[in-house]
Amino acid sequence: MSRTRIAGIVLAVAAVAITAIPAANAVPQSPDHASGPTVIGHRGASGYRPEHTLASYELAARMGADYVEPDLVSTKDGVLVARHEPEIGGTTDVSKHPEFADRKTTKMLDGVAVTGWFTTDFTLAELKTLRAVERLPQVRQRNTVYDGRYQIPTFQEIIDLVQRLDRELHRDIGIYPETKHPTFFKNLGLGTDQKLVDTLNRNGLNRRGAKVYVQSFEVGNLKALHRQLRVPLIQLTEATGQPYDFTVSGDKRTWADITSAAGLREVATYAQGIGPDKNQVIPRDATDHLGKPTSLVKDAHAARLKVHPYTFRPENVFLPADFRSSADPTAYGNLFGEIETYLRAGIDGFFTDTADIGIVARDEFLQG
Ligand code: G3P
Ligand code: CA
Repeated sequence: MSRTRIAGIVLAVAAVAITAIPAANAVPQSPDHASGPTVIGHRGASGYRPEHTLASYELAARMGADYVEPDLVSTKDGVLVARHEPEIGGTTDVSKHPEFADRKTTKMLDGVAVTGWFTTDFTLAELKTLRAVERLPQVRQRNTVYDGRYQIPTFQEIIDLVQRLDRELHRDIGIYPETKHPTFFKNLGLGTDQKLVDTLNRNGLNRRGAKVYVQSFEVGNLKALHRQLRVPLIQLTEATGQPYDFTVSGDKRTWADITSAAGLREVATYAQGIGPDKNQVIPRDATDHLGKPTSLVKDAHAARLKVHPYTFRPENVFLPADFRSSADPTAYGNLFGEIETYLRAGIDGFFTDTADIGIVARDEFLQG
């Protein structure tokens, strides 16, 4: 099921060149702990707090997440802030600010017309007057009690938070930033890649051994970042379609090409892992039950790539039928069972909205 389709449901309730192995894998290896698969706090602890807020990242870190995951977009004045997409109507209270009513507009985002309010039309100072709201109020009603309480954080504020929690918790909490829609921002003269590199440099995080991964759904920007970064890169992939930068350049290769055995060997020339849609690892059958694992994990490991699929969520609406608790789409099902099934398939880590469940599932798996 595509990410777009999943979003719809929730809102309603290469010919890739074969290359010899991986120059990239000779360089920055993953800084992960030795204690097993990596638990990534997806948008923080977005199962419990409005996503991409300092409260969400802090909760994920305190739950024990190995990494917190900010998605990065640009403001009008070129500051990196955390939002899942440049349009902020669904995750902030901007629609309730009459002073910004005339900023509502329609823009083309990766070939799709999107109407709303865009970070690229707001300075950081203006964005700071907004407050985050829960993206999925129908599914995560409890989280709506936090609506209106938290600002949109800058990337620097997230790094500062993580470094403060490192000292307090005596842990090295990782940061796993994603460059969102790189082509969109570049075309507006607000490219995010150099700012990401500069921020990591400024904070001493662009070095081997820093607990940082950098991810992207586009290929061109990740290849360019490979030349500038000393931390591992993750090529995100989808079940259908192709990277948007390929669409723009006329490159015919699809995600299926990129995730073929040959395509993965090409990915390994610039990245250290892939972040696939979990359905690319274990697809669902016609009854929405889990089928047999594909060869993706085996092929990725053969190319010396880690596999960190997305996104593991506890509500029935997101779970395969095997692990649902009832017909109530918002009730929790057996996420432990789903994660265990994927860990048995050999994944190296996973993105989850509920880091606490992810950690228990990981630990139980390791204990056998
Ligand atoms: O970055 C991994 C996962 O977060 C990708 O999906 O759309 O939630 O950013 P998305
Ligand atoms: Ca992401």
